[in-house]
Amino acid sequence: MSEKKEFDRDSISNTLIVAVGLSLVCSVIVSSAAIVLKPVQEKNEEEFRQKIILDVAGLMEPGRNIEELFGAIEPRMVDLETGDYTDAVDPAEFDALLAASDSELGIAIPKDKDIAGIGRRAKYAPVYIVRKDARVDQVILPVYGKGLWSTMLGYLSVAPDGKTVSGFRFYAHAETPGLGDQIDKEPWLAQWPGKLLYDADNEPKLRVIKGTVPVDAPDADYMIDGLSGATLTANGVTGLVQYWTGSHGFGPYLKKYREDSINE
Ligand SMILES: Cc1cc2nc3c(=O)[nH]c(=O)nc-3n(C[C@H](O)[C@H](O)[C@H](O)COP(=O)(O)O)c2cc1C
Repeated sequence: MSEKKEFDRDSISNTLIVAVGLSLVCSVIVSSAAIVLKPVQEKNEEEFRQKIILDVAGLMEPGRNIEELFGAIEPRMVDLETGDYTDAVDPAEFDALLAASDSELGIAIPKDKDIAGIGRRAKYAPVYIVRKDARVDQVILPVYGKGLWSTMLGYLSVAPDGKTVSGFRFYAHAETPGLGDQIDKEPWLAQWPGKLLYDADNEPKLRVIKGTVPVDAPDADYMIDGLSGATLTANGVTGLVQYWTGSHGFGPYLKKYREDSINE
């Protein structure tokens, strides 16, 4: 009579086989889920970005299809050095952070100009044009820079005069809840529309101050209330707004926009 060999569930080899087998099955499930869900995740991220752009433009209508609403906005690429529109890259495919680190699509920012603390930027940047009765009503600029803990990414909307803020929103950052995260909360954001970007010499002047803007301050139009307990995040906001509206950012484009030469 042949002796039946019993499965020894406590042996080291069998324990290892079960452990390795289980890890393989789990890793296949997790990787497959990541691959299958990636397009959904990308679509959600894109929809969120579009929602913020619509929000900063004041065009967000709750309950309406975001993609449909976003169809009213015209994305264009800008060559930041010349300030002209370009067809060199497709705004729908463009990833500014990826392009910044690319040797052909990105450039290093000279240290004395890098007030946003980002090191490099792409040569091109998208702008989002909102029209009213065929004329440009707002142009929405992507802006980003270093806060205390994180890179803060947002959109700044500029009025047709090329110097007045129409709206401002952040869509990504990792500043501290209750401190730095006041940057994405009302009523702080409500102060931005109507503020002025440039001084008489066309140099960026708008800044977040420490404390509250005095109502009778002659320069009140160039100041935003500080963030209490979060001055370092607030300084980061000043840096990124002044960098992206300055001569190394969208300055040349906004100058043309102000002079009406591309406001068609
Ligand atoms: C845990 C922790 C988190 C903090 N997070 C932030 C922050 O997100 N942004 C910020 O500017 N300051 C933050 N601070 C405070 C800064 O260290 C610094 O004290 C503050 O920016 C100074 O601002 P104030 O002059 O308005 O007090 C944090 C401090 C601690 C201890």
